[in-house]
Amino acid sequence: MESTENLRLLKEHEITGAVAISPGQGGLPRLVITTPFSQAEIYLHGAHVTAFQKNGEPPLLWMSAKSLFAPDKAIRGGVPICFPWFGPRTGAPAHGYARLTEWNLVATSACPDGRVTVRLRLPDKVGEAPYSGSVEYIVTVGSTLTLELQVNNHSSESVIFEEMLHTYFTVGDITGVSVKGLHGVHYLDKVAGNALKNEDDDVIRFTGETDRVYLETTHTVEIEDPKLRRIIRVEKSGSASTVVWNPWVAKSKAMADFGDEEFHHMVCVESGNVGPAQTTLAPGVANTLKAVLASRPA
Ligand code: BG6
Repeated sequence: MESTENLRLLKEHEITGAVAISPGQGGLPRLVITTPFSQAEIYLHGAHVTAFQKNGEPPLLWMSAKSLFAPDKAIRGGVPICFPWFGPRTGAPAHGYARLTEWNLVATSACPDGRVTVRLRLPDKVGEAPYSGSVEYIVTVGSTLTLELQVNNHSSESVIFEEMLHTYFTVGDITGVSVKGLHGVHYLDKVAGNALKNEDDDVIRFTGETDRVYLETTHTVEIEDPKLRRIIRVEKSGSASTVVWNPWVAKSKAMADFGDEEFHHMVCVESGNVGPAQTTLAPGVANTLKAVLASRPA
């Protein structure tokens, strides 16, 4: 954390018994949130939710033991925010600069029903993207985890961007996992050179590297995990794209911040607007990408 003065200012947002703020891994500022139903952690670096765990359940979000925690590196696991672009870009960071930027903490609040809300804002004028506006991220922690990315175009011209809540989920064993809710949806298969395919299977199962951008889908997706006897539910609004990713063997080995065997215990089911569904916002217009992450016993 940069200075004791910064820490003192951040601590003004603490709420006794609900929000504690202190240096986390790598000394980066971190909020630890406690509710009657769950625990969560958020780093200001990337506005990155690195943990969410309901009482009596395994962690919902997966984190790599190899993740780096440094100002110029993305955190591996949790919920990276990809903005204002998704995927690689020549001469610029993959998945945009939002996940590499320290966001400002705007407010914290505790509701009478026990939920806790944290509001963060992307500092103005970061990066060199063709983007002008205000970007806020509202995280609500309760028995579910609600994530809202709000983009407001204050400029006099339309702005175009991609966005993705790149959620990493914990699973017991990827080979037993099935993902439901994408049957009949077209997708770009990144593992097959972005070939356009149709999802013919009722459920998606994992037998190798999987990297798919499902198009024109607003559907709720469920992840069935027999090993952890849990069903994870990803309900979304303001989102037309869903990405499903597991790096499997070779890609895991190629990533320095990802353990060789960790792919067994994670799956990404991501909500956003990318590629043909990128967002165009007219001047003065705002929009919200929202995902509600929930779980129940299987
Ligand atoms: C996924 C992409 O969303 O993110 C994959 O579809 C990519 O292609 C993965 O490999 C991880 O990206 P990064 O930049 O965090 O390593």
